[in-house]
Amino acid sequence: MSSPNAIGVFDSGLGGLSAVKEFLHVLPAEKIIYFGDTGRVPYGTRSRDTIRKYAFQDANFLLKNNVKMIVAACGTVSSVAGDALRERLPVPYTGVVNPTCFTAVRKTKNGKIGVIGTAATVNSHSYKLRLQKLMPEVQVFEQACPLFVSLVENGVIHRDDQITRLVVRRYMADLKDNGVDTVILGCTHFPLLREAISDYMGGDVTLVDSGYETANYAAKVLREQDLLSDDSAPKQPSFFVSDTPEGFKSVAGLFLGRDMEHTVTQIDIEQY
Ligand code: DGL
Repeated sequence: MSSPNAIGVFDSGLGGLSAVKEFLHVLPAEKIIYFGDTGRVPYGTRSRDTIRKYAFQDANFLLKNNVKMIVAACGTVSSVAGDALRERLPVPYTGVVNPTCFTAVRKTKNGKIGVIGTAATVNSHSYKLRLQKLMPEVQVFEQACPLFVSLVENGVIHRDDQITRLVVRRYMADLKDNGVDTVILGCTHFPLLREAISDYMGGDVTLVDSGYETANYAAKVLREQDLLSDDSAPKQPSFFVSDTPEGFKSVAGLFLGRDMEHTVTQIDIEQY
């Protein structure tokens, strides 16, 4: 299958669907090819070399499908392999760090920004370094939240669920004590915990959704580079995974905010 005009989006699993949801909203006429590396999720606990190797395999699979742009809808990949992907890919690339940081510095009023992500993301300080470039006086408070990924992958996300509330309190307490007024959801899985996080942090704290911001940023890049499709008919996305499609389908609807009616195809990512 080859789609010369498609936008390629990938993540370690389901999280990138938070970007796909926004793509379907802002660019309905664009074909999206999504790859979720469900056989190797999570990436966020792995070494730099492994994350880079996986990121290039994921991107190579999308390139084989002739995509015109690649979006790493994954905080971990963007943080650890983003520069290498941007340098080496033959098509425009964006990750989630830059688009999300632009919005966070626009939103903060007190200059105190919290960043939550996977361990690999937080250890890379990618968001912090970018925020400091954009706003030298900013105070950044980082927190790794590895259990959030498992909660989301298993659909344990409801704001009234006791386990969800407990884990949210455990991870968010220091950020709250430090008085952040803006929190970057620096992992694309985390927007599904938005309500539970907001309940704990309070309605005055702005939560910046990396998937949403990235899809809007990618749309802007495609527009500026005159790469948008000429054909205005709505397109159906195609989904590929590296583990069984059933597990993916059962939770994907939560991310997309609609029933998951699409075909999901399993591929062998080690070939790429
Ligand atoms: N969606 C990935 C991210 O944005 C996190 C999941 C993982 O650890 O693979 O970082």
